[in-house]
Amino acid sequence: MGGRLINSSTSLPDAKSSLVADSSVLQICGGHSLAGHVHISGAKNSALVIMAGTLLCSGDCRIRNVPFLADVERMAEVLSALGLRLHREGDILDVNAREITTSKAPYELVTQLRASFFAIGPILARLGVAQMPLPGGCAIGARPVDLHVRGLQSMGAEVQIEHGICHASLPGGNGKLKGAKIYLDTPSVGATETLMMAATLAEGETIIENAAKEPEVVDLANFCNSMGAKIQGAGTSKITIVGVSQLHSTDYTIIPDRIEAGTFLLAAAITRSELTLSPVAPDHLFPVIAKLQEIGVEIIEEAPDRLRILPAKTLKAINIDTLPHPGFPTDMQAPFMALLTLAEGDSIINESVFENRLRHASELNRLGADIRVKGNTAFVKGVPMLSGAPVIGTDLRASAALVIAGLAAQGTTTIQGLHHLDRGYDRLDYKLQELGAKITRLKDTSANVDVTDHGNSTPISAIVP
Ligand code: EPZ
Repeated sequence: MGGRLINSSTSLPDAKSSLVADSSVLQICGGHSLAGHVHISGAKNSALVIMAGTLLCSGDCRIRNVPFLADVERMAEVLSALGLRLHREGDILDVNAREITTSKAPYELVTQLRASFFAIGPILARLGVAQMPLPGGCAIGARPVDLHVRGLQSMGAEVQIEHGICHASLPGGNGKLKGAKIYLDTPSVGATETLMMAATLAEGETIIENAAKEPEVVDLANFCNSMGAKIQGAGTSKITIVGVSQLHSTDYTIIPDRIEAGTFLLAAAITRSELTLSPVAPDHLFPVIAKLQEIGVEIIEEAPDRLRILPAKTLKAINIDTLPHPGFPTDMQAPFMALLTLAEGDSIINESVFENRLRHASELNRLGADIRVKGNTAFVKGVPMLSGAPVIGTDLRASAALVIAGLAAQGTTTIQGLHHLDRGYDRLDYKLQELGAKITRLKDTSANVDVTDHGNSTPISAIVP
């Protein structure tokens, strides 16, 4: 059975070492400006769902610009447990799903990685049966999957949920999903992606109304179409999919990560630095750039895939409402809150997508911020400075917010909970170090784990079930 997807040598430190010690600690000596150019990696939320999408293909898929993330490693373990063959060389991932040896996804892996639940659509479409553990909730909310389940049922699947497992099957066992007209109560990214993938191999036409419009949904649709799927309307609220009998091999490049790019823009803004970033897709970052410009930060599009951010003289308080795309992205809410702690005036941040995504406020207050949370709204009173302290990241984007605040805080900030950060950011600390940040990933003395890279980059290895 498959082992771990490990990385070949890259120009950056071996990513594996930064994924190994998930109990390490980041130490930041704040107050230093940044300078230079940062390379933006492939989008996490494209990579994970496109990896699930390889299950639809009975040939070879080559995926380029795959980021080095713990979640990518986990998704690779799920796919290899299902019988797929995976091989990674640098940022290129080759996947062969000719053989899916089981319809049962491993419980301990799926419950660690919500995105792996999205694979239920492709498995059901390929095998006519799927057993997928429920992903369960996480720090930011209950994360239900009712829209995924209802959509599959409308396409003819029978679904029972027993002992935390979602059992889906097609009547008669070897039938096919049927095209259907589906309305999503909320424009769920995952439900849109699960159902769009399932529909590519269904009989007839499927229409998804009130679909999510995120760039990663469009990226998935483009990936599926590169394998011969017939998807139209991705990026709008109405997506139409005409089922085909099978999908062929492809060679596909993932879009840049808009949330990583936004995070570096905020790191530059809070340290009053000038940076360039590429590759980026500016139209994917429109709401983030608009709000940064409202604060008083100047951002220049130097080329179609390159941005330059200039040091702001003052940071003006603003209000933010998170919304489904093209609204302000919920994944940028926590990092933005870190910046607004030092803005002049009072900001109001309303988190309307997830029910529990303001927990970073209390950790930011430990750094000297002045934030009051009432329900899903945070009231941020700008302060003249932050001061370093030990803090703990409670989820992926909350950890990024603490890094951003630590870069500006006077003195030393230590951040625990790096396993969250390593799930979704490709060597964030290393890239910040390259820009001049005084940031170090410390040995974890308690577990006596050495996380420094001694240059013993791991050999490439194929995972053979
Ligand atoms: C995706 O999660 C992203 N993850 C999240 O990124 C992102 O925050 C989120 O979309 C919103 O943009 C991946 O793509 C792997 P949703 P997803 O379904 O699909 C409710 C990050 O930090 N809902 O769009 O799980 C749900 O409770 C992560 O990179 C239902 O009620 O998000 C939430 O309130 C975090 N029933 C809202 O919809 C369902 O069946 C939006 O969730 C599904 C969702």
